[in-house]
Amino acid sequence: MKRNKSYQYRSQKKKGKALPITLISLGIIVAGITSWIGMNDWNLEKSYKKIEQVIYQDDNKVDDETTEPVNPDENYDSENIDENNEVEVPKDEVPEVETPDVETPEKDNRQYIEGQELPKEPTYIEGILIANKQYPLPSTYSPGESDEARAAFHEMAAAAKLDGFELIAFSTYRSYDYQTGLYERYVERDGSEAADRYSARPGYSEHQTGLAFDIGEVDNEQYYASAKFGETDAGKWVAANAYRFGFIMRYPEGKEKRTGYMHESWHFRYVGIEIAREIYKQNISLEEYLGI
Ligand code: DAL
Ligand code: ZN
Repeated sequence: MKRNKSYQYRSQKKKGKALPITLISLGIIVAGITSWIGMNDWNLEKSYKKIEQVIYQDDNKVDDETTEPVNPDENYDSENIDENNEVEVPKDEVPEVETPDVETPEKDNRQYIEGQELPKEPTYIEGILIANKQYPLPSTYSPGESDEARAAFHEMAAAAKLDGFELIAFSTYRSYDYQTGLYERYVERDGSEAADRYSARPGYSEHQTGLAFDIGEVDNEQYYASAKFGETDAGKWVAANAYRFGFIMRYPEGKEKRTGYMHESWHFRYVGIEIAREIYKQNISLEEYLGI
């Protein structure tokens, strides 16, 4: 009896608690559902999809953008909505397409331009008088040897003398006519293809500018206009110091494609100290310096 009473009491107590628990649970569920819908922008469909996603762990995630109302005034441009009402990527969100590293074809200045006529005026690029296979000079251009270049050569020769080398410029200004005879002789001797690698056709020689100096060492004529000059101490001195006096080695080793001519360890071009220093330090040809 005592036991029954107690059981009854407990049973009543349970019944008394059941209602509030149910109400609280319901409240929690309703609050949960409400805040879930709220978290999904009060969008029932989206909320439902999210539940599906959680349950099935669906890989197809709900795409916020597709369920977002399309507002042409904001990020979207009405032109980006096609006739099927599908939203395309907004214009201002189009990712920048990286331009592939397309190598610009290497310049090849070894060939003359077919049918090219000599110009009426010489060409200056960035203030530098240029003469090569692409930029000829007028046949009438005859400035003679440049005084400025000669003075710079004197200074260089004086400096070389202090180091034990007696320099000489064995060929400087050459007229159009002189170059004509020279080139013809080389063609006769070696053929035009070979001659074109080391001798300029008339109108194309830098010697016609008066700024080109072929340098050698007094009493060492055997090295004049010879590749071997570059191997002599005097040749090495000139190669290393010419820039200090405004001269550049005009046809460096390995630059034939760009300069148009084989390496000439004896041919120097006066460009002024500033430019010469820049070209020397960068170890480039005049064509590379000028981007031609
Ligand atoms: N040797 C150089 C290229 C000239 O003939 O001008
Ligand atoms: Zn020369």
